[in-house]
Amino acid sequence: MSGVGLATGGGVQHAPVEAARSNEATVMTLTDIGLRFGEVQALTGINLRISRGERVALVGANGSGKSTLLRVLHGLLTPTRGERLLCVDCTQAMLFQRPHMLRTSALNNVALGLWLQGTHWRASREQALAALQRVGLADLAGRNAKALSGGQQQRLALARAWSVRPDVLLLDEPTASLDPNAKRDVEALVADLGQQMTLVFSSHNLGQVKRLASRVVYLEQGRLLADLPVDEFFNGTVLPHKHPEAHLFVTGETA
Ligand SMILES: Nc1ncnc2c1ncn2[C@@H]1O[C@H](COP(=O)(O)OP(=O)(O)OP(=O)(O)O)[C@@H](O)[C@H]1O
Ligand SMILES: [Mg+2]
Repeated sequence: MSGVGLATGGGVQHAPVEAARSNEATVMTLTDIGLRFGEVQALTGINLRISRGERVALVGANGSGKSTLLRVLHGLLTPTRGERLLCVDCTQAMLFQRPHMLRTSALNNVALGLWLQGTHWRASREQALAALQRVGLADLAGRNAKALSGGQQQRLALARAWSVRPDVLLLDEPTASLDPNAKRDVEALVADLGQQMTLVFSSHNLGQVKRLASRVVYLEQGRLLADLPVDEFFNGTVLPHKHPEAHLFVTGETA
C-alpha cells in the first residue's frame, strides 16, 4: 500500500481520489476539516491521522459530531473545508446504526454487494454464505432480511461489510438499541474483526470503548478536544489536567 487513491466502501461506496501524500502505515488523514449543515457548524478544525491496525473510538455527547465525522471519513459527506486523504488501494466499509436491508434473503443482501463489486454471481453467493457463517447466521440465509431481529440485522450488516474484506471498517454505534445478549454477540464480532482490520467506531458505551479501542477521540460541539491511547484516556493523569472537558464527560458518564 502506498500513496493515496480510490477508497471503496461496503462494495458500493466510491470516495474521490485525492492527493498522494500519506505514508505506508497511514490509512486516512483529515486536515483542518470543517463541515456546515446550513446554520449548524457540525465539525470545526478536525485533524486526525489513522494508522493501519488502530481501533479508534469516537466519543462525545449527542450532537457532538461523531456520525458526521464517520460520514466524512467514508466520503458520504463532503467537508466545507479541509482535506481528506486515503491510502491507495484501501477499501473501506461502513456499518450504520440502523442498517438498511434489501427486501430479499439474508444471503442475497450480502451477495448483491459482492456482485456489484464485480464478483461473479455464483462466487458472490458462495462468499456470502461464508460471511453468514462467520457471523453465525448461516441458518437464516434464506430468511427475508427485513424479517430479521435488530441484532440479527446488525450481524447481517457486519457480514455484508466483512464480505468485501475492507481494510478499514467504520461503525456508527454498532450495538446501540440491541438487547444485552445481542450487544455481547455483536461486540465480540467487532472485536474479532478488529484483529484483521482498522476500526473507527462511535459509541456511548464507555465500557465497550475500553474493551474495543486502542485509541479514544473525544468530540465536543464538532471540535476534537482529546485524542489519547485508551489507557491514558481512562486511567491516566493527562485527561483531568490537559482535557478537563473530556474528563468531565467520562466521569459524568461513568458516575
Ligand atoms: N443532515 C443534517 N442536517 C442538519 N444538521 C445536521 C445533519 N446531520 C447532523 N446535523 C447536526 O450536526 C451536529 C452533529 O450531529 P451528529 O449526528 O454528527 O452528532 P453525533 O455525535 O453523532 O450525535 P449522537 O450521539 O446523537 O448520534 C448536530 O448538531 C446535528 O443536529
Ligand atoms: Mg450519531
